[in-house]
Amino acid sequence: MAGQYLEGSPTGPVLSPALQRRLQNRVLDWYISTRRSLPWREGNDPYAVWVSEMMLQQTQVGTVIPYFTRWMIRFPSITKLAAARTSDVLKAWEGLGYYARARNLHRAAQVVMERHAGRLPADYPALLALPGIGPYSAGAIASIAFNLPTPAVDGNVGRVLSRIFALEEPAGSTAGKKNLERLAKRLIPRGRARDFNQGLMELGALVCRAREPACALCPVRADCQAHARGQTAAYPRPQRRPQRKPVRAVMALMGSHRGLLLRHRPDRGLWGGLWEFPWEEIGGEETAENAVERLLVQVGMQGSVPRQSAGSVRHGLTHRIFAWQCLWGWVADPDGAPGEQSIGGCSYRWVQPADLLHLPMSLPARKAGRLIHSVAPSMDMPILTET
Ligand code: ADE
Repeated sequence: MAGQYLEGSPTGPVLSPALQRRLQNRVLDWYISTRRSLPWREGNDPYAVWVSEMMLQQTQVGTVIPYFTRWMIRFPSITKLAAARTSDVLKAWEGLGYYARARNLHRAAQVVMERHAGRLPADYPALLALPGIGPYSAGAIASIAFNLPTPAVDGNVGRVLSRIFALEEPAGSTAGKKNLERLAKRLIPRGRARDFNQGLMELGALVCRAREPACALCPVRADCQAHARGQTAAYPRPQRRPQRKPVRAVMALMGSHRGLLLRHRPDRGLWGGLWEFPWEEIGGEETAENAVERLLVQVGMQGSVPRQSAGSVRHGLTHRIFAWQCLWGWVADPDGAPGEQSIGGCSYRWVQPADLLHLPMSLPARKAGRLIHSVAPSMDMPILTET
């Protein structure tokens, strides 16, 4: 069976013309008859396609739809987005996570105004040169918005192709990615990149799912090597992941008659430009008490703040997993707080609980904000949702 598909392996699978045509036709026919109606698929507006691809990078379609719809009302064009304030852009993104995507989209809109007369370029290298647009996004935008024959291999597409061709290289490895790109490019039917690439994405999202793929509904089942071997679960081959580093930290939830003490993170870096409750990492040999004391000294509020446990917050990132112990304290003399002056690149502000709804906050801070209700019901906290 393998001989039908594979001819020299170091360069990856070699497609026979018959197999290529069959896969193309079956994916296209299936996509045309079953595609979901999604807001960014109406009209293939390049700006809408771009926004959707940025939002979809780390987030499920179902979560993205309401964000996308609100975004297009709030920032209906590249011109409007380029002219918007960063805080408004971050606010509209709040809850989607990975805020660098929003900052890059904003900056890229400004670059498009300056260098491309306000129109997204219909050109893969020019798209790739924009902030926040990597090879996958450039390929997706070029093909979906402009019907250019560029591959767009995300996790879903990588899984579909890894299974059809029973690829032995992990989809996330450098060699695996290269193989997949080459294969995906060669599969694109002439003049049909838009529908074909979305067909592969849709197949991965709806049928060739990571767990429990619906092979009975798959239009290319007859040509799928993983299916033929009864080994869909074994593909794509897993990539060995480095362990995520655990980070222990304390977070100070401090209230006073002026509200809650928040700090604004520097624009660059992790949770850049977002608001949070002050927190401090707990060193290897250190106790949580030491760490919170250090934090209070930094902001000039040592000594007087009582500390009551409010619970804990956990939050995982790609390489780190954070666990915060959250401590609640009432500050009798809030005028001693640091105010707007910058400490370690952060500025501080007392914020009334109701105003939290209007500030772009990091996800862990929103999680922590929900703990305040139980330790300090009189703060009258608004309901902070995670999305
Ligand atoms: N995931 C990434 N891009 C997508 C798109 N255009 N449609 C549906 N899911 C996607």
